[in-house]
Amino acid sequence: MMNRREYVRLAAFAAVAGGLPPVLAGAAPMQDRSPRIGGRQSLKEHAKRRGLFYGCAVDVKILRADGAYRELLAQQCDILVGESCMKWSRLRPTPESYAFSETDDLMAFARQHGMKVRGHNFVWHLALPDWFAATVTKENAERFLTEHISTVGGRYKGKIQSWDVVNEAIWTKDGRPDGLRDSPWLRLLGPQYLEIAFRAARKADPQALLTYNEYGIELDNEENAAKRAATLALLRRLKSANVPIDAVGIQSHLHAADKSAVGGGLVDFMASVRGMGMQIYLTEMDVDDSRVNSEDVAERDREVAAVYRSYLATTLAEPAVKSVLTWGISDSHTWLNNGKEHDKAHPGRMQRDLPFDEEYKPTEVFFAMREAFDQARRR
Ligand code: G3I
Repeated sequence: MMNRREYVRLAAFAAVAGGLPPVLAGAAPMQDRSPRIGGRQSLKEHAKRRGLFYGCAVDVKILRADGAYRELLAQQCDILVGESCMKWSRLRPTPESYAFSETDDLMAFARQHGMKVRGHNFVWHLALPDWFAATVTKENAERFLTEHISTVGGRYKGKIQSWDVVNEAIWTKDGRPDGLRDSPWLRLLGPQYLEIAFRAARKADPQALLTYNEYGIELDNEENAAKRAATLALLRRLKSANVPIDAVGIQSHLHAADKSAVGGGLVDFMASVRGMGMQIYLTEMDVDDSRVNSEDVAERDREVAAVYRSYLATTLAEPAVKSVLTWGISDSHTWLNNGKEHDKAHPGRMQRDLPFDEEYKPTEVFFAMREAFDQARRR
């Protein structure tokens, strides 16, 4: 199995021979000129050999502007999700209108390359449009929610593999006995907003698998354990009320410097989800390196890759896990570098959390992921 060092050596050879940098070059199909990372050597093909899907979150502005990015996605991914284009803030410029052009472009690109698409998302406490707070009331909230789901879900009916119907509904620190987050949707509709959303989603697109997506449930620490317990209790309540829900998304935003292990807690959680008859997707994986104190890039890369390796070894041992998506594909576009989330301890230091670097060359993460796919049990 080729590692990153061998890749760099081969890449240097290919450059001398007149080929590289492959992604930035343009004309010829990328897989013809990349040393052993395209075709059967790509992430999607290694995943597929184990019955898994690999893909990533896509920024449609970059998709439109950057041919090399499009080539990289086509080369590596079997499944895509819009990083922001399907959120209310992007889809709903006014209470009466919809702006579909970004999502339409994503869908067209995916169709052209035979890729699946995940929908993200119908219900979230964030990324609501500016007009939302003054317009949506207890009286009209159910109509707003169900119309949004039937319009958006209906437009892409039959073309979405899975919808994140509700995103991040649990926040135990809000102190409610049911663990639900004190979100705008909860304040408007009460806890039944989840059921309303899942039922509307099933009606709008009966083929799409309906997903509950959550973060902060990965680690063996007290906070994550409480969130896992509340999430499982929520899923049991929904299931026992025959609410249509098919899958759980474990976001998988991890920190390289986090000393809390990923282990028994997550393993038991995944087994419980399987026991309820649901699939599991790793929906938003990345590994934040901002709290790694070393200024040595290679060392940080190794730490990040080690987290990918061990996390995927743990999660892919669970047969209910069917897809792995990273939250972006290249370090040049990761949300972790967009300023707000940046660790102030290392100002200006760029994070390297994804399988390709800012020049679209494979990182240690790429090789760690490929190895993890190879070692995964077959679905
Ligand atoms: O596109 C505008 C740009 O025109 C403007 O100049 C700039 C000024 O701030 O903002 C740009 O929009 C930003 C957008 O990302 C695109 O980069 C928004 O402000 C910013 O809020 C938005 O952040 C996204 C965030 O969700 C909120 O929607 C992140 O990119 C996206 O990675 C993040 O994704 C979330 C998942 O949906 C749910 N799970 C956690 C994950 C990470 O926070």
